[in-house]
Amino acid sequence: MDNSKIEELINNMTIEEKLAQMTQLSPVFFGVEPDIDLTGPMEELNISPADLPNIGSTLNYFGAEKLIHLQKEYTEKNPHHIPLLFMADVIHGYKTIFPIPLAMSCSFNPENYKNASAVAASESSASGIHLTFSPMSDLVRDPRWGRVMESPGEDPYLNCIMTEAAVQGFQGDDPKQKGKIASCIKHFAGYGASEGGRDYNWVELSENTLRQFYLPSYKAALDAGAKMVMTSFNVINGVPSSANKKLFQDILRNEWKFNGCTISDFAAVDETIINGLSANSEEAAKNSIEAGVDIEMMSTHYINCGKQLVEDGKLSMELIDRAVRNILNLKNDLGLFENPFKDADPEEEKRLHLCKHHRELARQAARQSAVLLKNNGLLPLKPGTKIGIAGPFADSTDTSGGWALAADRNTSSLSLALQERGFSVVTAMSGPLGSMEDQIFDIEDQTPQAEKAFADCDLILAAVGENPRDTGEACSRAYLRLSPNQEKLIRKMKEAGKPVVTVVFSGRPLELKPILPYTDALLQAWFLGTESASGLTDILSGDYNPSGRLAMSFPQTVGQIPVYYNHYRTGRPYYGQKDHYVSKYLDCPNEPLFPFGYGLSYSHVEYSDFSVRCEEGNVSAEITVTNNSSVSTLETVQLYIHDCVASVVRPVKELKGFQQEELKPGEKKTVRFKITKDMLKFYNQKLEYVFEPGEFEIMIGKNSQDVNTKRIWIN
Ligand code: GLC
Repeated sequence: MDNSKIEELINNMTIEEKLAQMTQLSPVFFGVEPDIDLTGPMEELNISPADLPNIGSTLNYFGAEKLIHLQKEYTEKNPHHIPLLFMADVIHGYKTIFPIPLAMSCSFNPENYKNASAVAASESSASGIHLTFSPMSDLVRDPRWGRVMESPGEDPYLNCIMTEAAVQGFQGDDPKQKGKIASCIKHFAGYGASEGGRDYNWVELSENTLRQFYLPSYKAALDAGAKMVMTSFNVINGVPSSANKKLFQDILRNEWKFNGCTISDFAAVDETIINGLSANSEEAAKNSIEAGVDIEMMSTHYINCGKQLVEDGKLSMELIDRAVRNILNLKNDLGLFENPFKDADPEEEKRLHLCKHHRELARQAARQSAVLLKNNGLLPLKPGTKIGIAGPFADSTDTSGGWALAADRNTSSLSLALQERGFSVVTAMSGPLGSMEDQIFDIEDQTPQAEKAFADCDLILAAVGENPRDTGEACSRAYLRLSPNQEKLIRKMKEAGKPVVTVVFSGRPLELKPILPYTDALLQAWFLGTESASGLTDILSGDYNPSGRLAMSFPQTVGQIPVYYNHYRTGRPYYGQKDHYVSKYLDCPNEPLFPFGYGLSYSHVEYSDFSVRCEEGNVSAEITVTNNSSVSTLETVQLYIHDCVASVVRPVKELKGFQQEELKPGEKKTVRFKITKDMLKFYNQKLEYVFEPGEFEIMIGKNSQDVNTKRIWIN
């Protein structure tokens, strides 16, 4: 429909119809039972039945037949036959579930993120979905926050690359295309910096830090064409995001020229009252509409107060028309006026959901997202090894992780997959780990029974971690160790003289230092989705040489948090010297247990011949990488840069590039990086984005700690 028709439509709509179009309600209000839990608190919303036909969108209702029926019913009831927008949290898969986003970021392969999003788009659009509340690109530095699982991690550069790939996967060149859906970037902004790692807590960030670290990945999503922006729950620098003109007018609309649609998070407009910014419903509506939040998700202040605000001259109709225009344009961009059902097709659903090709892509992502953190030669498992497997994830098929709302249960467990791969497996102490929400904090101690059962096993595989329901939204933790009996299992098996492989299933970096002395090999398995068991077995059996690298630091202890690699030097840096007056802990190293970019493989790759040159102002760096092993490997060569002196202090290093190189046994390759001035820019004290000539450290290595460094002056 052309734009003149949109304007005509707006002119023909009553204010009640406009305010309803700006409201998003759960399908419960449409008299249907959603087949998933609500994703937020269900307050009593005084919606009159007369409003329903005018509501603009609904969320998290799935299924081609159901959505075709709902769309038919409501497009007919709507006085202007405006179609509903069907939005959903399709985060890391729809029916074929890929690894959690934090895990996929550890693959350092944007193709995995893109494939995951493209598969999710094709499967969910066949089920009638038009738009996904994804990708979440909140930068994170605090694993106490349960939502780190949804994030690409602690680095702005990697976050931008993964976020861009996700938007491309969801939307393709045009989300109107069959099999594509619109993408909504979230949560704008700074949600990952919630104080204390406690969800929904407030955020205090200097504008310099906000712009330098937290904003780039949201901008990357918009540069990739994301159609929508979602507010965040947090107050940021004193003002809730959902009423924050600095974010949604100054930065998003005026500076970034975003002309798409915005939406509040779940009841976040209402929370401007609870937070103490809005005195009442009227102010909540006024504050959020004026800030530029087009759609109010799951609260009804717009519908209940918008008309009175306009009649009392407290709110301009212009702002309401602005919001409605953004919403109708989005529906028009998706072709919904011509085809309100878009790709909903029960036959296509059956053909696409969990199809072989999708599962193959999910398995590739799973293999590449797990991270080998320790291996004293115990892995890969030798054929014929007799494995004693224990722990709550030995027999579990619940390995999709959070935000897999429409997923069916996984098909295989790790113990079953290992048996199918030809290993002889004995299982013991494999009872489930309940959820902390249900006040269950440990597994049953059956270590004596396990010791007996494993007496003639060659090694023990401890499949441990945290309950998947204890990660994600509203799942903050103050302690990050494995539960006592999970730690005891590992310790007792080692003390019984058995080699121990520990496989950790978690949605966040856990505190693994206590078990490190008792485990001979340590594999961070995250929650890898539908193909978790096959992907992990590919690694454990040696069919795949692990290539994952950490996208988020693992702390020595929770007391160290926040700990991240791109930190500042301080005026009293600690390098292990004996001085007292330096920036250090008396009882813990400054470095994380495992740093950003870290990961092992079954190969040994040597870095040599590192050189940096500056020719006619063009700076380049190169290094030779040699696979000194008998196993092919995928090596992620990482480029870091440090601006030694600048008008604001700069991090000791920042990731500015990485290249993944396949290396056959004995193969060597020279890896080159071009270093542009753009890569060296930063926000100065006046918040200008500038390059300043000076001395730089150029670093190339296999992770953020193990690097080769050269200094160079760049004009
Ligand atoms: C939730 C989440 C958000 C999600 C939305 C809709 O509260 O914060 O990420 O997209 O509500 O389910």
